[in-house]
Amino acid sequence: MSTPKLALVDLTKRYQPGLAPAVDHLNMEVEEGHLVALLGPSGCGKTTTLRMVAGLMDPTAGRIVVDGEDITSIPVHRRGMGMVFQSYALFPHMNVAANVAFGLRMRRLPKSERLERVRRALDMVQLGYLAERETKALSGGQQQRIALARALVVEPTLLLLDEPLSNLDAKLRESMRGEIRAIQQRTGATTLFVTHDQDEALDMADRIAVMNGGLIEQFGEPSEVYERPRTRFVAEFIGRANLLDATVVADRGPSGADERRYDVQVPGFGAVGAVGAPGLTGATRTMLVRPHRVQVHCDPGASGSPGTVESVSYTGDSVGYRVRVGDRAQLAEAPTDGRIAAPGDVVRLDWDPASAYLLPEEEER
Ligand SMILES: Nc1ncnc2c1ncn2[C@@H]1O[C@H](COP(=O)(O)OP(=O)(O)O)[C@@H](O)[C@H]1O
Ligand SMILES: [Mg+2]
Repeated sequence: MSTPKLALVDLTKRYQPGLAPAVDHLNMEVEEGHLVALLGPSGCGKTTTLRMVAGLMDPTAGRIVVDGEDITSIPVHRRGMGMVFQSYALFPHMNVAANVAFGLRMRRLPKSERLERVRRALDMVQLGYLAERETKALSGGQQQRIALARALVVEPTLLLLDEPLSNLDAKLRESMRGEIRAIQQRTGATTLFVTHDQDEALDMADRIAVMNGGLIEQFGEPSEVYERPRTRFVAEFIGRANLLDATVVADRGPSGADERRYDVQVPGFGAVGAVGAPGLTGATRTMLVRPHRVQVHCDPGASGSPGTVESVSYTGDSVGYRVRVGDRAQLAEAPTDGRIAAPGDVVRLDWDPASAYLLPEEEER
């Protein structure tokens, strides 16, 4: 990668001496034009990280580097960041255009240029027709788009979004995902997007930084963190997961570029196939199988490991099962066009060996 747009180097925030740091030697590089999601459970340090990048809070240690330049001690008003927070925070006594123009006021731009930039920013969020409207007459989604226009109008070095959709209702939240992503791609604004919602991160981001306890557990493309999680935490936080104890018995040859196919032994399932990094023969590892990759066979003559259905949840799009195999419950998600099993039924479970992934050994932290 050439010079990253943003680099965080050992970034650390300790709110109080003696307490564990909220952000702990965090390292990350963001490529120009990318949207990076900071994803993790409540309290893992997402907002603290974003506020340090914005300049709203001083780090205890570490550096923030933009375009190769250390900006750690540059004050917030000289960083040129565009920010949108969870609460819309528009100025209620100003109309829409005045709200969007706010960030341009201090810049002593000629009035004609100011008007032109406001017009463009409002067009960007497709709300030009609301320019003269009062902000309190707008819906939540409109207010959040105005907040986005206000952040974009300054042509920010970085766009920083902290859970911008979490105050919207479910339907609107989903359609706004697509809109924010489209706006971000049109402007090419390098963006940090804080969320605790894994669907939002998978849907919108070029890269996801999965955070846990002030650290990044994994940084990668959405498909990478979903299909090849580095830790149990990542496997369970991104989507749903069956995590099984596997003993690797034999190496069956290459699978793709850097992986091998293995025979493994799994309690309740016996001898099954899986893929993983080279050199795992003889090792014990956690094996991940995503529920939608598990096939549920109702026919007693079918292949697979027998288990007893504990519960069934039908959503229309799919049917979710909890199936007891041996002494553990496994999750499966099946299409609704086949026969649907009932609690108490004995079914057989299996999966394509390529869908079972042996996690790396976890390092102590
Ligand atoms: N102003 C503060 N003073 C002391 N502790 C704080 C402060 N702000 C956040 N924290 C603590 O720092 C940790 C990270 O918080 P935060 O960055 O807000 O997490 P997130 O945005 O991921 O939910 C939490 O344990 C939180 O309680
Ligand atoms: Mg937060």
